[in-house]
Amino acid sequence: MSERVIIEVSDLTKTYWMGETEVNALRGVSFQIHEGEMVAITGPSGSGKSTLMSILGALDQPTGGSYWLDGYDIGNLRDDDLALIRNWRIGFVFQQFNLLARSTALANVALPLVYAGLSGRERTERARQMLELVGLGERLHHKPTELSGGQQQRVALARALVNEPAIILADEPTGNLDSKTGEEIMSLFWQLHEEQGITLIIVTHDPEVAEQTERVITLRDGLVVADERNGHNVVYRRQRHVSELAEPPAEPAAESGEHAAAQGALPADHQPAITLLAQASAEEVARQIAAEAPSNGTEAKAAREEDHEPGN
Ligand SMILES: Nc1ncnc2c1ncn2[C@@H]1O[C@H](COP(=O)(O)OP(=O)(O)OP(=O)(O)O)[C@@H](O)[C@H]1O
Ligand SMILES: [Mg+2]
Repeated sequence: MSERVIIEVSDLTKTYWMGETEVNALRGVSFQIHEGEMVAITGPSGSGKSTLMSILGALDQPTGGSYWLDGYDIGNLRDDDLALIRNWRIGFVFQQFNLLARSTALANVALPLVYAGLSGRERTERARQMLELVGLGERLHHKPTELSGGQQQRVALARALVNEPAIILADEPTGNLDSKTGEEIMSLFWQLHEEQGITLIIVTHDPEVAEQTERVITLRDGLVVADERNGHNVVYRRQRHVSELAEPPAEPAAESGEHAAAQGALPADHQPAITLLAQASAEEVARQIAAEAPSNGTEAKAAREEDHEPGN
């Protein structure tokens, strides 16, 4: 974790109006997140997680208080500037993966680079690097329906990373996965956090997922009721490296081992040597999904249904 504060929210409030009734979804939330931290935001249903996630993702504005992201005063930006922040500085990972059903893994990951001023070849090369980073170097030309749920989520993560965002915001990233696959995704998050210094914020209602992060911010009734460090799971997370994820562990007993060392470093060409300003990502992805939907209703539906099947 660096000294640099990447997120600072101060006394954040969000009020929804339901006719005459006001709903105070956030009632004064304050915290800082440093560059490179891996944080879970958790809490019971209705506590304000999604509301906070929308604000952190620059998808919605707070009613009061302030939100600074990577030096930008998000609460006071206009809509078009917010869109730029979303596209350039935030990588989104969703419960439903949100991949283009008819496009290969490579094309899905290359998509946010469309406006980056790169040649097609460069875009493909960067997308390939990101897919290798998430352990999918062998699945570049598979379409989402030809991938397991966990693999689809890794494609989504590669896509979120391809523009080198300041933060990755993941909304229930394991919610559509069986528990073993969910653990693999959490291992991958942990590896990105540790080895690449990626700042990760994971919104989850699942205490087991929250436990697999470095720090847990708990909301209740729109307030932060706990902000705690998880000290115990570093060794646990290090046991499984992405290179092991492709195959089942040789010895199940290794899962309970306490001192398994970190596995080997990524090959040299896995370095995130990406410095570019790219303009398309979340919006472009949403646009493409929308464009794909009408002519592809059946396939998209089939893909969604398949996403819900555990154990793949
Ligand atoms: N658009 C809206 N209009 C009015 N009230 C809303 C709106 N969105 C959320 N709320 C209310 O704000 C509160 C916080 O909702 P939020 O969706 O942030 O909770 P959550 O922690 O994400 O819950 P869950 O775990 O069920 O997803 C709830 O009381 C909810 O009813
Ligand atoms: Mg929610």
